[in-house]
Amino acid sequence: MAEPFDALELIKLKRDGGTLSPAAIDWLISRYASGTVADEQMAAMAMAVFFHGLNGAELSAWTTAMINTGDRMDFSGLDRPTVDKHSTGGVGDKITLPLAPLVAACGLAVPQLSGRGLGHTGGTLDKLEAIPGWRATLTNEAMLRQLTEVGAVICAAGSGLAPADRKLYALRDVTGTVESIPLIASSIMSKKIAEGTGALVLDVKTGSGAFITDLDRSRQLARTMVGLGADAGLPTVALVTDMATPLGRAAGNAVEVAESIEVLAGGGPADVVELTLALAREMLALAGRDTVDPADVLASGRAMDVWRTMIAAQGGDPDAPLPRPRTTEQVVADQDGYLSRLDALPVGVAAWRLGAGRARKEDPVQAAAGVLMHAKPGDPIAAGQPLFTLQTDHPDLIPRAVAALDGAWAVSDHPPSAGPLIIDRID
Ligand code: URA
Repeated sequence: MAEPFDALELIKLKRDGGTLSPAAIDWLISRYASGTVADEQMAAMAMAVFFHGLNGAELSAWTTAMINTGDRMDFSGLDRPTVDKHSTGGVGDKITLPLAPLVAACGLAVPQLSGRGLGHTGGTLDKLEAIPGWRATLTNEAMLRQLTEVGAVICAAGSGLAPADRKLYALRDVTGTVESIPLIASSIMSKKIAEGTGALVLDVKTGSGAFITDLDRSRQLARTMVGLGADAGLPTVALVTDMATPLGRAAGNAVEVAESIEVLAGGGPADVVELTLALAREMLALAGRDTVDPADVLASGRAMDVWRTMIAAQGGDPDAPLPRPRTTEQVVADQDGYLSRLDALPVGVAAWRLGAGRARKEDPVQAAAGVLMHAKPGDPIAAGQPLFTLQTDHPDLIPRAVAALDGAWAVSDHPPSAGPLIIDRID
């Protein structure tokens, strides 16, 4: 049977600034998923979209077409509302780890389908795999059982969820087309809508360590995703949050698990606690449970109890010591003063070069690799004081990690004025 569209004609139409019909988009994405539209044609289309964008109708059709290439999950049989959080990714962003058990301890179910790190931003699954025995892969039945019994699950998204996105994301990664607002928005929202969560809170990062570094564009990404959620009947709220500076004082895998456990134990860095509670409040409000104060629940230790059960349910030993690195190296301050700047991107690159992240998606990561930050902007420092501890199993990786940190911080005579961590809220 003759095909109703021709990939080359559609590419030329978008290349010249034209508008694709919903039927054309549906055809393009489904044929790309099934292999009839070739990678090189989709790469050309992604570049055309990168330059010309997608209008509202095109974006909605693109997202729906991606969802339709795979399965849709259904949590409607659970006895509690489901709510999920998605972050666009940053350095030291371990928030999912304390947040999922906290929100479950507040009475909601949190189906957190997560990914692995690529490049300088870490991946939630890579972090949790630092816990001895913990498994990222669950069957749908096991996931549902854990949601019912524990209330929180953090696991790998199955290959059946928006498979066109999986293929397209890998293609964008090698063709310079990741940083496109419609492509990012449709990629994230297709997976979240297919996942079947009842509500969604987005943490859209902005600043040097984020995908989108410019605040106006981050707001636009947040608005675009909130709009896609509304179109799909998925109540969605976005916080736009700072990623010019790393979150917390640890970037890596085991080091971020350790910091998350500190938060669950009632301590931890102030910024990690602030963002965890802010996102928890948004999740509770979307599910109609805003009378519960997550700060009280965190202080009660109930979130820690859920964490322990959640880790054990996936084979992990919550009491096992976390992996330790074979080598560490310190970077020290060269003058007295106040730390006035600490850039997220170079810290993420340093952690990545130490072995915490991967360059290709099939690369292994080191559980113990990462960067500990002993000072954050505003902290007083003295010459000779350690600013960073670099951790790795391979000492030969240290020089390039040290080089990444060159120029990553600044010292001033006066404390810097601190900007807000939560910059905007979009609903
Ligand atoms: N995360 C995604 O899932 N997709 C993107 O395009 C960017 C970040």
